[in-house]
Formats: sequence, structure tokens, C-alpha cells
Amino acid sequence: MLHSTPTLVRHWLLVVALLFPLAVVAESGLPYTPPEIAPEVGSGYHAKSGSTYQQFAVAAANPLATDAGYQMLAAGGSAVDAAIAVQMVLTLVEPQSSGIGGGAFLLHYDGQAVSAYDGRETAPQAVDGTLFLDAEGEPLAFLDAAASGLSVGVPGTVRMLELAHRDHGRLPWADLFTPAIQLAEQGFPVSHRLHTSLAAEQRLRDDPLAQAFYYDSDGAALAVGYMLKNPALAAILSAIATDGSAALHTGVIAEDLVSRVRSHHSRPGRMTLDDLAAYQAQTRDPLCTDWRAYRICGFPPPSSGHLTLMQILGMLDQLELPEPALENQLPRVAWLHAFLEAARLAFADRAQYIADPDFVSAPADDWASLLAPDYLALRAQLIGSTSMGSGAAAPGNPGTISEVWGLQATQPEYGTSHISIVDADGHAVAMTTTIEAAFGARILADGGTGLPGGYLLNNELTDFSFRPQTAEGLAIANRVEPGKRPRSSMSPTLVFDRDSGALVASLGSPGGAAIIHYVARTLIALFDWGLDAQQALELPHAITLGGTVFVEQGGFPEATLSALSELGHEVQERELTSGLQAIQRTADGWLGGADPRREGVVMGQ
Ligand code: GLY
Repeated sequence: MLHSTPTLVRHWLLVVALLFPLAVVAESGLPYTPPEIAPEVGSGYHAKSGSTYQQFAVAAANPLATDAGYQMLAAGGSAVDAAIAVQMVLTLVEPQSSGIGGGAFLLHYDGQAVSAYDGRETAPQAVDGTLFLDAEGEPLAFLDAAASGLSVGVPGTVRMLELAHRDHGRLPWADLFTPAIQLAEQGFPVSHRLHTSLAAEQRLRDDPLAQAFYYDSDGAALAVGYMLKNPALAAILSAIATDGSAALHTGVIAEDLVSRVRSHHSRPGRMTLDDLAAYQAQTRDPLCTDWRAYRICGFPPPSSGHLTLMQILGMLDQLELPEPALENQLPRVAWLHAFLEAARLAFADRAQYIADPDFVSAPADDWASLLAPDYLALRAQLIGSTSMGSGAAAPGNPGTISEVWGLQATQPEYGTSHISIVDADGHAVAMTTTIEAAFGARILADGGTGLPGGYLLNNELTDFSFRPQTAEGLAIANRVEPGKRPRSSMSPTLVFDRDSGALVASLGSPGGAAIIHYVARTLIALFDWGLDAQQALELPHAITLGGTVFVEQGGFPEATLSALSELGHEVQERELTSGLQAIQRTADGWLGGADPRREGVVMGQ
């Protein structure tokens, strides 16, 4: 069973270390021993038990990635060191979700303060608001836009990690690449999730490099357990290990990236070498909001995550809800109704106001105006005993606005991967990382090596509004503009005790716009309902972006679905594949939980 893997791995590593102390010593000097982890078998839901650790813990979306982070922490590395090792292995083993061709947000706690590292992709200089419009001025179909050169944003993950490492790294930069390079050279077993994602994917097959690398001559996806080597990625990571982010943003690897974007077979993009060279990661002021006995710190715009999820929590606090909220270990209908109505209102504000803060002003020149208790009290008054209905929630008026924006229509958003880490000093990382949709722009780049494999380019620009303005001619805050970062839903979150200031949790999730519901509900489950980090992740999901309510397939009894329908919600069951990771302080140590819907595991000491 997967849930017993971390203990087995630790024992196995110990045995190897004792028997073969010099068994594997990487060129950089860091001993790295790939673990014997079988890929996850079966599909769907895999029960996991949380694990408690005294010194440090790391949770990530794939056992090999978690193990790489574990080995960095065990070697005395910091949380940022571990995050870098995890991200590089994820580029290899979970290429569909995140990687060096994408962007990320990293929230860091250094024992005193929280800092927010922004590695969000930017739009190339040569684009404008018509990027995703066809010849008739109508938005392209999502997949036509996504699987193209048009959607590729200038990647930011490596530059962001380099910046965070400069500030908080302890191990040498190059050593952090050892696990990924070694696994790429020697091969890793294709996981069940990678196999099923490849098998279900059609557009990736149109990319000649990806087709040759991930599929056989009959078009079958690589089998579960197939030992996949990625020599192109090994060479690219070796270059970044030696020369830093400059190896990706300038020189041959950059030339290859730009040429693949610009020569896309159906819709070439407009990225230039100058765009790549000019990319800069940023540090931003995190948003920290008091809630109950806690201070919840999250990412500011261009992410909509913290603002939207804290609006939901803030509105719920204004309502008198029946106690207890759970019945038979599931949220009761009254709580679900209130949560969904609060989400409708919060998503209306998000659609109106939230975009890259370097391009749009916050209402009342302060993003916190969206979280002001008086404002949320007014908004909560709109929540009645029956649903306001699909599409009925309108944005509110949190304060003086310098420009009147039009409302962005709901668009598909996908993807991502989440990493939570607490190191031996009690410093922490919550990092959500993405190439947007599964397999991003469906362009594999080999860095000009001519070797098999490579890394995938993001389609993050589809997180912009496809329409630059509304039918009435109002500009949309999140429209495409040169150099701008698209609005995100990523919600890396660190939680502190308000009295003592102690860190109490690091959490986050993939899942497109639903990240916001997943993280909001997990905070409530942990800190209001008193569930532990594993139990909280196991609760079934219910989400709405303002229209249909989607409830997790098989998660709720029929009576709950009927009751929600009677309250006026349009309800549909569907898979809601969150990938939550959470590490929580308990009386016994750091309790880590990993989402049973994906392959993630927690390890620690
Ligand atoms: N592309 C997912 C996000 O940034 O929210």
C-alpha cells in the first residue's frame, strides 16, 4: 500500500547507507540514492494515513519528488533547498502538471517573517488583448488556444527558485539538481497518473518530440512501470545546475524554447529571446489575514487565491449556521449551501477586480478592502435560505475604484501541483507550481540537445481573459497585455497561531479555480471542525464558480444532492481531483497529509 511507503523507504535507505556507504555519490558531492518506489497502481481514490514527524516533513505530488525533498532535508538542507529538489523531480515524473517550463508562487517563513516569491509567467511584449480572438473577433475554443504557441508565457519557476535560494538556500544550488538528473539519466518508473494522463491526452500527440517520447508506434501511452529515461532533460538540468537560470533564459536552451513557440504548427506564438532574457521573479508582500485564533498568510495578486478564499471564510463567519457543521462525517446541507453561496459572491468580485497588480489598482488602493469585515458583512447579507441561482451573484463595491472594469466570463482553468515543507529549523515553504492545463501547451522542448525527451512548455496565458472587453466596451482587468502576469487561483497558504505567532500549518492544492474551494474547505476542516491533516483532505468536495454546483462523484448521499437542488442549486456530480498537501503542527509533531485522489506522499523524520 502506498501509505506505508515513507517508512519502508526510510528503512530501505538506512539499509543501503549502512551496507554501501559509498554506493551512490553524485558528482556534486551530495549522496543521492533513488528509492525503490513502485508507481501507484489502480486509479481513483487511494486511502492514506497521515504520518507524524518530529524534525521535518515534506509533502509533494509524487513519491520520487517527495523523497528528493526528504533527502535534502536529511542532508541538512533548508525548506527552500528541498522545494527546489522536489520541483526538479516533478518536472521529470509529473511533467503534466508543473516544471521548469512553467510558473509558481512560493510562500516562505524564515522563523520571523513570511515572504512571497512570484515566479508567475509573463505575456511576451508582442501580444495584446486580441491574442485569443479569431478572425471574427470571437474567442478561440479553449483547447485550440491552449495547445498552441500563443498560450506560452515566459516561464518563471527557475528564476523564482534561484531568487528564493539566494535568500534562504543552505545546500549548494547544483546539489539540489542531483536527484532529478540522476533519475532522468537512469530512468524512473512511469506512474499510474502519468500513464492515464498520457493515454487520455490527444493534442500532445500532435507534437513530434512528445509523440516520439511518450507514445509507442501504435500510439499507446508508456505503460505503468516503464523505466523512462529523459536524457534531454538531464542535460538541461545539468546546465541549470551549473549556470543557474541563465542557462534556461539565454543561450541555446532559450533559443530552442523560443523557436518551438514561434514555429508551432497551427498557432505560432510571439515570444522572443528578449522576453526570456528580461524575465524577473519578484518578491511581493504576502497577504496575512486574521481568522478566528489564526493568522492565515497567502499569496497576493496576481493570484486571486487568498483574497477569494478569505472572502468565503469571512462571509461564512457572518452567518448563523447550525452546529455541528458535520453529520455522519460529512458537511450538512445548510453548511454546503452557505459555502456555495459565499463562493458565488467571492467569485463575482474575483471576476471584476483581481488581476496583475502591476497593471490594475486594487479597489480603494488596497487589496485588503476586499476582506474588510464591514464589506463582508454586507456581502453575507445577500446569502439567503435559498440559492441566488446560477449567474446571479454580482460583484460588490469594496471601495473607491480608479477604473471601472468589466466582468470576466468564467473560463476553464486547470492543473498545477502543490509542495508543502517544514524544515528542521521550523522554517516552511508552501509552493504551488504549474504549467496550467495537463501537459501545458503540448509542446516538448529538448533544449536544442537533439536528445530524446525534454520539458513541457506552459499554456499559462490562457489564464488571461480571452476577451479584452465586455460587450458594453468595458475593459476587463485580467485582459492580455504585454509583460503582464495572468490572474491565478494558486493558494499556497501558511497558518500561524495569532497569540504565539507559531507556524501551525502549510497547505495548498492543484485544481484550477477549484483550488480556492479546496483550500478554503481544508482550513475550515482543520481549524473549525478539528479534523486532522489527513481527515481534512479526505472530505468530499463541492464547488461553484457562480453557476452549476459540482459535487464530487459518489461523495455525498443522494438526499444531500436533492436538498441542494431544492434550495435552487443546479447540481452535477463529477470527479473533483484535488491534490491537497498539508503539514500541520500537532502535540506530537508535524502531521502530514496527502490527498487520496492523487499519488502524493509525505515523508519526514
Ligand atoms: N493555472 C492555474 C492557476 O494559476 O491557477
